[in-house]
Amino acid sequence: MRNPLPPVPTSLLDIEVAGDLRRGAPVARLVTAPADDVESEPLEIGGVRITGKAGDVQTVPAGEARWIAGLGNGEPKQYRKAGAALVRAVNAGLADDVDHGGKAFRVVQLVLPEEASGEHVTELALGLLLGGYKFKVTGEDAAPSVRTVRLVAHDRAVPTFTELVSRASVLAASTALTRDLANTPSNIKTPAWLADTAARVAGPRVEVAIRDEKWLTAQGFGGVLAVGGGSSRPPRLIEMTYKPSGAAKHLLLVGKGITFDTGGLSIKPADGMHLMRTDMAGGAAVIAAIRGIAALELPVRVTALVPAAENHVSGSAYRPGDIVRHYGGKTTEVGNTDAEGRMVLADALVYGIRRFNPDLVVDAATLTGAMKVSLGLRTGGLFATDSDLAASVVEAGARVGEAWWRMPLTEDYAENVRGEFGDVRQTPAGPGGITAALFLREFTAGLPWAHLDIAGPARSEKNYDDVVPGATGFAARTLVELAASLA
Ligand code: BES
Ligand code: ZN
Ligand code: MN
Repeated sequence: MRNPLPPVPTSLLDIEVAGDLRRGAPVARLVTAPADDVESEPLEIGGVRITGKAGDVQTVPAGEARWIAGLGNGEPKQYRKAGAALVRAVNAGLADDVDHGGKAFRVVQLVLPEEASGEHVTELALGLLLGGYKFKVTGEDAAPSVRTVRLVAHDRAVPTFTELVSRASVLAASTALTRDLANTPSNIKTPAWLADTAARVAGPRVEVAIRDEKWLTAQGFGGVLAVGGGSSRPPRLIEMTYKPSGAAKHLLLVGKGITFDTGGLSIKPADGMHLMRTDMAGGAAVIAAIRGIAALELPVRVTALVPAAENHVSGSAYRPGDIVRHYGGKTTEVGNTDAEGRMVLADALVYGIRRFNPDLVVDAATLTGAMKVSLGLRTGGLFATDSDLAASVVEAGARVGEAWWRMPLTEDYAENVRGEFGDVRQTPAGPGGITAALFLREFTAGLPWAHLDIAGPARSEKNYDDVVPGATGFAARTLVELAASLA
C-alpha cells in the first residue's frame, strides 16, 4: 500500500544570500509603512496602492518587483510576519501561473532593505521558511511551491547573513518537524510510530533507545503503563541522547507524548476530541529540539525523554480511584483519567533524574485546558523552581519568536497535592495549571526545573505570523535556543 502520509520531516525551501540581483527570477521587495501622520504620502507603485502593513503583500503586475510586502514599523518581529505572508503570496502566484499554462518558477529574489540587521534577517528567514508550511494528506499531487528564496544584500553583509540564515534554517526545521509529528493523525501515530520516527529523523549525533512495554513493566513505569493500558497500541519510552565532548552542562528534556487523548474512562466530550491528536506536541518539540541542538553541534549535553502512550477506553483502562506506583516508588491516587499527562511525565522525570543526573530539567506538555484560559492561544505558560532558568526560557523564546509568561507555583496549594491513600493526589483542588505544575514538582528532586504548559499555543485555527492552521510547533525553537544559551 502507498504510504498515505506526506514525508516526515517536510522539506523546507532553501534560502541563499547573494550580493546582486540575477536576471530571470521574479523579484519581491519589502517596504516599511508610511509614518502615521497627515504629511506622509500614501505609497503607490506601478499603479498599486501599498499599505506597508506587516502581513500585507501586494502584487504589482507590471512592476520591476512582482510582490511588495509590508514591514509595518520595521521591527524584527514584523520581518517574520512579512516573510510568512510573502511566501504565501508567492506560492499563490506560482499556482496561478501554472493554472494559466505558464511555467512554474523555482526561485524568487527578495531585496533586503538597507537597514536590515542580522536580527531582522533571522526573523525574515523564520517567516519565509515556516509561513508556507502545509500538512495535507491527499491523493493528488502536492501544490507547487517555491524552492529557493535568494536574499539580495550588500556584498559586505553576505557572509554574516549566510551564517544567520543557516542557523535560522535549523530552528525552522525544528519547528516544522514538531508540526509534522503533531499533525500526523493518530490512526498512523501510535507510540511505536512516534518512537520509530524519532529514531529515523534524529540525525547522526543523537543516540536513540526505544523502550517497549516489557522494559517499562520490568522497570516499574506505573504511570506510563496505567495510561497506556487502555489502548491496543502499547506505550513506549523514547530516550534520546546527545553527548558532545567538553560539554559543561547537562540538560534533561521531558516531553508529553500522548498520541491520542480520549480522556480515558473520564472520557472527553465529542466536540473537540479530534484535536487531541496533537497531545504529543510537547514530546514532538523535545524530539525536534534535540535534533536541532545536535545539528548545531552545541556544546551542551542533552538527554530527551518522551513517554509515549495512547489514553484510551477499554476493559484494561485505568480507573479513577486507582493507586499507581511510579518509577522510583512514589504513589499517586488517580482522580480523573483525563489528567494522564502528569502520570506519564512523573515516571519520566524521576527516571531521567536518577539515571542521567542532569544539572537542569525542562518539560514541555499540552497539560491543562486551564492554561488556555489563563494565557490564551499565543503564549506559553512557564513554571519554574529557579528564577535564572525562568529568565533564560523567556529570553530564549523572545529571540526566536515564542512568548512565555511565568506563572506562580503558589505554595498555598502545595498541600492539596498530598495524598490520602497514596503519596500524592493526581488532581488536587485549586487552579488547574498551577496544581498540575505543583504535582509535577513532586517528581523533580529539587533540581532547577522549568515546566512549559503549551496547551494553548501548540495549535492554531488561523494563520498569524509564521503560524498556519494545525500544529504550530511551539516550544521547539525555545528549547534549541535555551540550550544555546547554556553553552
Ligand atoms: N490534553 C489535555 C489538556 C488539553 C486540553 C490540551 C485542551 C489542549 C487543549 C489534558 O490531558 C487534560 O485532559 N487535562 C485536564 C486535566 C483535568 C482532568 C484535571 C483538563 O485540563 O481539563
Ligand atoms: Zn492530554
Ligand atoms: Mn487528558
